[in-house]
Amino acid sequence: MRIHHIGYLVKHIEAARERFEELGYNLKTDVVKDKERGVLICFIEKDGYLIELVSPAGEGSSVKSLIKRYGNTPYHICYQADDFDRDLSELEAGGFLRIDSPSPAPAIEGRKVCFLQNSQIGMVELLM
Ligand code: NI
Repeated sequence: MRIHHIGYLVKHIEAARERFEELGYNLKTDVVKDKERGVLICFIEKDGYLIELVSPAGEGSSVKSLIKRYGNTPYHICYQADDFDRDLSELEAGGFLRIDSPSPAPAIEGRKVCFLQNSQIGMVELLM
């Protein structure tokens, strides 16, 4: 597995995007709505690091309680799988608990992702 991006929670995605741009980040995508997860997402990049900005959209947002508790903050590392099913099984065998089912991510070309949680290192995302 290789690191694909860092997921970064922000309260207001457009304002955050502008601040990051002022810091020299390149805007890689437009802001996309992931209706399934109730989030707005865009990607920015600097020095080879890809950052995914995520903000809540609507009442049923999957990140609503997270942003309430932690505010603006990095919150997951996403790994590009070498072999999605095998890597998912190995993570689970290694103590990572699935917190959703593998499903397409509209903000990443509809590629399949799955989120997992580990008590020592928090949330990770696996990308097909
Ligand atoms: Ni992500």
